[in-house]
Amino acid sequence: MQGQRVLLRVDFNVPLSDGKIVDDSRIRAAVPTIKALLDGGASVVIMSHLGRPDGRVVDGLRLRPAAERLTQLIRVNVPTTGDALGVGTDDAVRRLRPGELLLLENVRFHAGEERNDPAFAERLASYGDVFVNDAFGAAHRAHASTVGVAAYLPSYVGLLMEQEVEALSNLLDKPARPFAAIVGGGKVSGKVAVLEALIKKVDLLILGGGVANTFLVASGRSVGKSLYESKMVDDARRILKLAQDRGVRVLLPVDGVVAKEVTRGTEFKVVSTDKLPASWHMVDLGPASITAIREALAPIKTILWNGPLGVFEIPSFAVATRELAKVAAEKADDGATVVVGGGDSIAALKQLGIAEKMTHLSTGGGASLEFLEGRDLPGLAVVPTAGSPYETLPIVYVAPVKPGSKPAPKRAPAKPKPAIKPSTLDDEGDEESGDLA
Ligand code: 3PG
Ligand code: MG
Repeated sequence: MQGQRVLLRVDFNVPLSDGKIVDDSRIRAAVPTIKALLDGGASVVIMSHLGRPDGRVVDGLRLRPAAERLTQLIRVNVPTTGDALGVGTDDAVRRLRPGELLLLENVRFHAGEERNDPAFAERLASYGDVFVNDAFGAAHRAHASTVGVAAYLPSYVGLLMEQEVEALSNLLDKPARPFAAIVGGGKVSGKVAVLEALIKKVDLLILGGGVANTFLVASGRSVGKSLYESKMVDDARRILKLAQDRGVRVLLPVDGVVAKEVTRGTEFKVVSTDKLPASWHMVDLGPASITAIREALAPIKTILWNGPLGVFEIPSFAVATRELAKVAAEKADDGATVVVGGGDSIAALKQLGIAEKMTHLSTGGGASLEFLEGRDLPGLAVVPTAGSPYETLPIVYVAPVKPGSKPAPKRAPAKPKPAIKPSTLDDEGDEESGDLA
């Protein structure tokens, strides 16, 4: 690493409220790689996206708050550039000394980022001698800064990427049994494939949130005004059948909290899911469901949890999610493997101060689900050691040579592999920021 200029992709796409970072997990998770590079004598040019500015400059989505947070965490000043590219940025990059770092402004301010435009990727690549991708949370995106730059630079994955892949692979390859998955969040769409994949792996599937509502409808119940997806009912039915055929138990809510409106301060009550009133919304699981979940989890040795059980943003409807967080912590204390993904589930654990008890907290929502589904993540696949499906694309692997810097070694042509379609990974229109997105 000594003397190398490392172009490092991280996922600093953190939740913000009034310009303040609400949860800095993703920034903390990037620290080991950043420190290792700096300690190794590299200079580090960091790239990230934040939010979805759609190719335009959005002042509220500048990366300065992330730079400030990182500065506090590593105690090294982290300057930001005003733009990911341009003369000022070229200059700032050129002046970097070993052991120094710099954060490029939000790469999604350029339309070329999400389009994976080769010219944009090449400009970014000119800022490094090597590329390190440590953005697990964005590994399901085939964008210029996650995938495109790898065509021009020798590419590696970072420590976070390694840790995520190891934790999630262990879960799929050799889970201690019985193994339970708990899936919540708003929507079934976008999760059908992962639910199908999980049914083949787990002994118990627990459903909550809007996801459970669609399954309640699929099992013949009416859910009143509750959030559910009529288009997904057939899929839910198919998944229930699959579970039945494989002897996998599916636990649906037996009671729920219903509210007049999905707002703070509204009237709410607990009812059985057999008698959900027509003009109310189910907004959380009820106490009997929580007891049932606790009992069902008693013998479980491995837990995967992704997604809140209710409308977690509203504190009165975050009860079941918080209770589940407590159960998860008890299970972890008892020696179970507990892996949690998705912003809201992790937020619940953090609010209760029990996040560290978990075996692994994934920084990826959508990325962890696509990984568990068994899909190739473009941001991983592009790294040669991981085997790249993109190597069948007509990309010329030429490292740009900068005056005064060592030319990076050319990548050896790799064996062709069947190509995957990266475009489908980007257009999922998933529920964002919330869990599973
Ligand atoms: C995420 O939070 O899901 C990742 O950072 C990717 O962001 P995106 O869903 O906007 O592509
Ligand atoms: Mg997302």
